[in-house]
Amino acid sequence: MNIAVLGAQWGDEGKGKIVDLLTPHFGVVARYQGGHNAGHTVYVNGKKFVLHLIPSGILHAGVRCVIGNGVVVDPQALFAEIDELAALGIEVGDRLLISEKAHLILPYHRELDVLSEARRGERKIGTTSRGIGPAYEDKIGRRGIRVCDLVDTQALADEVRENVHARNQIIRDTKMDWRAVYEQLLAQGERMRRWTGDVSLALDQAMRAGHRILIEGAQGTMLDIDHGTYPYVTSSNASIGGACTGLGIPPRAVHGVLGVAKAYTTRVGEGPLPTELTGEMGERLRESGQEYGASTGRPRRCGWYDAVAVRYAVRVNGIDALALTKLDVLDGLERVDICTGYAVGDRTLTEFPADLNTVGPCTPIYESWPGWSSPTKGVTRFEQLPTEARRYIARLEEVSGVPMAVVSTGSDRGETIIREDTLAGRWFPQGSVRLA
Ligand code: IMP
Repeated sequence: MNIAVLGAQWGDEGKGKIVDLLTPHFGVVARYQGGHNAGHTVYVNGKKFVLHLIPSGILHAGVRCVIGNGVVVDPQALFAEIDELAALGIEVGDRLLISEKAHLILPYHRELDVLSEARRGERKIGTTSRGIGPAYEDKIGRRGIRVCDLVDTQALADEVRENVHARNQIIRDTKMDWRAVYEQLLAQGERMRRWTGDVSLALDQAMRAGHRILIEGAQGTMLDIDHGTYPYVTSSNASIGGACTGLGIPPRAVHGVLGVAKAYTTRVGEGPLPTELTGEMGERLRESGQEYGASTGRPRRCGWYDAVAVRYAVRVNGIDALALTKLDVLDGLERVDICTGYAVGDRTLTEFPADLNTVGPCTPIYESWPGWSSPTKGVTRFEQLPTEARRYIARLEEVSGVPMAVVSTGSDRGETIIREDTLAGRWFPQGSVRLA
């Protein structure tokens, strides 16, 4: 059974922990979109380390990790990660496979990202400045350079020359030498070659050999280029459609979708966040949840759980069950609010609107639920949660439309409740998820 794990909010839902927890059940972990804008903090031998591109499955012996064609790869970032892993005693070896069709992030993409943000001024997206958007622009504009193009050919030379020339037209004060970019690419291609191949074929073969695939999304549904709060989104399909196009697998290869949602909401970067709390409560959530970007260190904007957004993500992705994360961050609050709709003028919206002119002025409609004074931190059995926390989760299930199959009560693997009475019980039979 292949399961997709993806974000049901604006990213940073804690997918990394959930993927890490489930990885031992799978032969392969496959990333399908995004790039090194994503960040997943892991601890190896007590040392903090952030993985951006390579699935954290690499930390599990015997698990193969795949970077699909839908991902944009910055070779420098990739090598930095591989080297850092090696320094920690983790050899990537032959367990990594990068799609030969994946597009590359080149040095001028990073510059163009920064420039584009500066030009937008007040309307800036708040990108991670990693060159993600410009790399996808080149892909869609059919002038991108793919992993398989990194061979010493006239075609590559022509493409690089034209692209660098175009960049030099835009950024006139510092000229870039196309030959230097070309030479660097050839060297990078040489180093990358051992890890590149046909991802679609490899996944098909893995499935035929009886291996399970854990399909890993980055960012979240509300940051999806098509289904998110456009234009304040990332440039890829973080939602489920991206899994098929970004890996070259058919829809029937995805047997279940596990959405990940925080017990509240966060967003990093600009754009609408209807339940945002700008005052003391927002600060309280940010501090107790340590809500600072793993890639950029930027403070995340925080707010109450937005059931309109999560319900929307459930529909768009066909989410079967949710993993609810960071419940413990709400410990000690007198009340916890859930947004169930938006008021716009005299209208009540229960579906997430496409038009930002509607999202902007909307006022969240809240239900207020009693908080809990005894801690949920580290609780591993649902029955041991305070009654109020259980009631809160039950209400989240009702308003989100799916069961909460996993509840995370802390950052450690052990600080997790697996609700085997839910659908996840079918995916991960009783007692089979090793929490310690
Ligand atoms: P980009 O992906 O760098 O182009 O950034 C576009 C938007 O997506 C910005 O609002 C970023 O803050 C946001 N974003 C990109 N990657 C992540 C992530 O991994 N977590 C949360 N937000 C992200």
